[in-house]
Amino acid sequence: MSSSTYGSFPGARPRRLRTTPAMRRMVAEHRLHPADLILPAFVREGISEPVPISAMPGVVQHTRDTLRKAAVEAVAAGVAGIMLFGVPEDEKKDALGTAGTDPDGILQVAIRDVRAEVGDDLVIMSDLCLDEYTDHGHCGVLDDQGRVDNDATLERYAEMAQVQADAGVHVVGPSGMMDGQVGVTRDALDQTGHEDVSILAYTAKYSSAFYGPFREAVGSSLKGDRKTYQQDPANLRESLRELALDLEEGADMVMVKPALPYLDVLAKIAEQVDVPVAAYQISGEYAMVEAAAEKGWIDRDKAILETLTGIKRAGANMILTYWATEVAQGL
Ligand code: PBG
Repeated sequence: MSSSTYGSFPGARPRRLRTTPAMRRMVAEHRLHPADLILPAFVREGISEPVPISAMPGVVQHTRDTLRKAAVEAVAAGVAGIMLFGVPEDEKKDALGTAGTDPDGILQVAIRDVRAEVGDDLVIMSDLCLDEYTDHGHCGVLDDQGRVDNDATLERYAEMAQVQADAGVHVVGPSGMMDGQVGVTRDALDQTGHEDVSILAYTAKYSSAFYGPFREAVGSSLKGDRKTYQQDPANLRESLRELALDLEEGADMVMVKPALPYLDVLAKIAEQVDVPVAAYQISGEYAMVEAAAEKGWIDRDKAILETLTGIKRAGANMILTYWATEVAQGL
């Protein structure tokens, strides 16, 4: 340990390593790389022009065509993967979310499109959840008292896993926070010849106000909340229980979501596992930065890099962010 003072002068001067940009670059403990980034993208059925999402300036609901272009752009920028969300036509939403298991449903069509366009140059991932397809907006099916029925939902997830894998996805992302969803997904994939399709488990997914803009992005009709299945923001230990279960059930990678308000959870999980760890910088996190920047209150580009660096420092190997392509292009 170096002495801290000579007379009244400091003996240790950490500022020496901050003197020039080159020095700071050299001693940086973490750096972002395009391959850390995964682009979440929305594709909407039955539109001929992309539709802007007002609460997420710069993000759109893609047409099939513009989605393919976004995928090509992501590859060119060196982005690692794309996470696809389908937005069906309103009249196709029903109580069971059947559009989510229709082989010709919008998400399955989009997976085939993107796979045909970029092949294996991008890791193609899909949201495995029912909320985009149900008329009540919940992530599962309801029982006769209107509660989300865990085990009936698992049967729907098993079917979804199969149709998404049949369509050519590399990774499925079960995000509904049903108990047993990873195990059921693994079984469904293995029993249908998709042993090579991996599972990115939404392990610690919190019930968050920051999903607000996403609900617009997928045209969700949810009334109420998801507190009976998503985790309480007050809990950390509970996420370690979810982690143990997901790993036991066969998760290949695990995820924490949202990112910024849960960096402690991310750090704890990253410390404990030997599988890759992802963090999802969600719609509301995106919207906060964009809104403050639009008002001239923060420096947008610096704020974006700072949030992503913080998420990486906390332990994420992979970060899902709506800025993925833009950031990768700038790195
Ligand atoms: C569930 C799902 C959600 C998000 C990703 N998958 C919404 C929710 O759980 O309410 C949110 C992503 C974001 O806010 O950017 N299908």
